[in-house]
Amino acid sequence: MDAPNKEFALAGSLEELKTKGRLVVHGNHRPILVICDRGQVFALDNRCPHMGFPLERGSVDDGILTCHWHHARFDLESGCTFDLWADDIPICPVEIRNGDVWVKTTFGQADSAAHWRKRLADGLAHDLGLVIAKAVHGQLVADVAQADIVRQVALFGAQNRDGWSAGLTILTALANLLPALPEEEVYLALFHGARRVATDCDGQAPRHGRAPLESRPDPAALKRWLTRWTKVRHREAAERTLLTAIGAGLSPALLADALLAAETERAFADTGHSLDFINKAFECLDLIGWEHAAALLPTVVGQMVAARGAEESTAWRQPVDLVALCDQTIGQLPELIAVGRGVHGWSDHAALARDLLGEDPFRIVEALKAAIRAGAAPAHLGRSLAYAAALRVARFGSANEHSDWETAHHAFTYANAVHQILERIGTAEIEGQVTAVRAVLHGAMALYLTRYLNVPPARIPGEGGEQLDDLPTDPRMIRATLLDAFDRQRQVDLAAKLVARHLMLGHPPQALIATLAHGVLREDAGFHAYQMLEAGVRQFNVWGATEEGRHILIAVARYLAAHSPTERAALQTADIAMRLMRGGELHQQGG
Ligand code: FES
Repeated sequence: MDAPNKEFALAGSLEELKTKGRLVVHGNHRPILVICDRGQVFALDNRCPHMGFPLERGSVDDGILTCHWHHARFDLESGCTFDLWADDIPICPVEIRNGDVWVKTTFGQADSAAHWRKRLADGLAHDLGLVIAKAVHGQLVADVAQADIVRQVALFGAQNRDGWSAGLTILTALANLLPALPEEEVYLALFHGARRVATDCDGQAPRHGRAPLESRPDPAALKRWLTRWTKVRHREAAERTLLTAIGAGLSPALLADALLAAETERAFADTGHSLDFINKAFECLDLIGWEHAAALLPTVVGQMVAARGAEESTAWRQPVDLVALCDQTIGQLPELIAVGRGVHGWSDHAALARDLLGEDPFRIVEALKAAIRAGAAPAHLGRSLAYAAALRVARFGSANEHSDWETAHHAFTYANAVHQILERIGTAEIEGQVTAVRAVLHGAMALYLTRYLNVPPARIPGEGGEQLDDLPTDPRMIRATLLDAFDRQRQVDLAAKLVARHLMLGHPPQALIATLAHGVLREDAGFHAYQMLEAGVRQFNVWGATEEGRHILIAVARYLAAHSPTERAALQTADIAMRLMRGGELHQQGG
């Protein structure tokens, strides 16, 4: 007998089904399980949505299908799971024709994008890694724009937790890197970002938004008020002020200027995380659209007003009072900036960076002052600071404790955030520039305090004419060896040499960056590894394939090598989800 149409396949006779209780239909489609239960016929994907165990081996009782691998239970009629971690089973239509059972062999939804969007919402709400992975994959296959997926996750993260989170930073960092990633890594990057946001929100109280003021104060007043409320740790007032500024249509540059002024009331607050979060919130809005500013930007205020400044730390006060040194310098800035205004073409970024790594805080400050006098804009100073901080990581000595990597990392990611936010603000009036330079001064002092991390300094491969000829020359081989180095512990120096080798031979940096990203995305990477990767790539892009650019990627590789390998459990989840989505029979396949 012919099928009702080509999408249907014959499962067998109804009589046979009643006798056997279940049949499995194979073909050029996923295996389909057909079950007769209490006189009704149902057809489902035979692969358990959890990890692919054949459901034909499960049991049915009272309309409930139980998988016998991890005992997830499902409503036979709808395929919906009673155990959320397992996900729902796709079902397909059944028709009885002349005593035969026909099943439709396609499982697709009428609106695939909407279906996977809903599934991503479910996965985020219940922190279900497998569901999140499938939903991200499903949306990508349905041609949903990457930015739309980032937007959905970012807004979920902003609404379901009372404040910006590390997960939102990871999401933004990875979303920034998407253009540098090969297609197969995009799925993994979005999955990691989404799952980390979901984990941060799990068990948290949702955010209760506040309203802007009903007046329209001028931007200068709003900036003053934001600083005032931050100083006295008045969160509600600071949030309402920020919302008012957003509602008044202040440009991203003016909003950044106002937040930077408030933020730098405390030096290197929360070891730089507070400013980094602010910068990431701006970058997130660049990705998802500034129409979401009122939903997203106020999430940074809670940490900003509560953050602990370095001025409360002994190391910043003794034996040299670095806070007083900064304050004294800030008092001199209007005059210095006025002198530098008429000078153009400053480009001594690398030389200033080396001065910033000096042993004497007074000379460091003098170097900054000289650069300002010579026409260096705040963003120029930020670029030098970021390169100097990258050099600190690149020269991180093996005699340090492992936890000291994070000290080096904090200075680098803060410096990168300062640089990015100063680029955003651009050339402001002198008062704005004073605030901007204050952020650089704080970063320079934080970097000065980490000088012990380079005692003795690790050698940077390629320096002094070193050729590294014992390493491969083929770019693919270099990158494969780099990944192999990440597979083993304590391969920091080898990873640095391989990166140096790749770049010194003139091989394309994009492929190397994709390899570094792969090295992170396959791990259960910590928050800092994502930050280090993304900040490093951003700074590399500023310098390009130069000696300085090479130093920056060496810093990234050294940090990543020091934190690899991990369990790679998340990669396994992503892999299972992808294979299930592609119709694979996991139970029949190897890893
Ligand atoms: S519950 Fe079915 S495979 Fe895990």
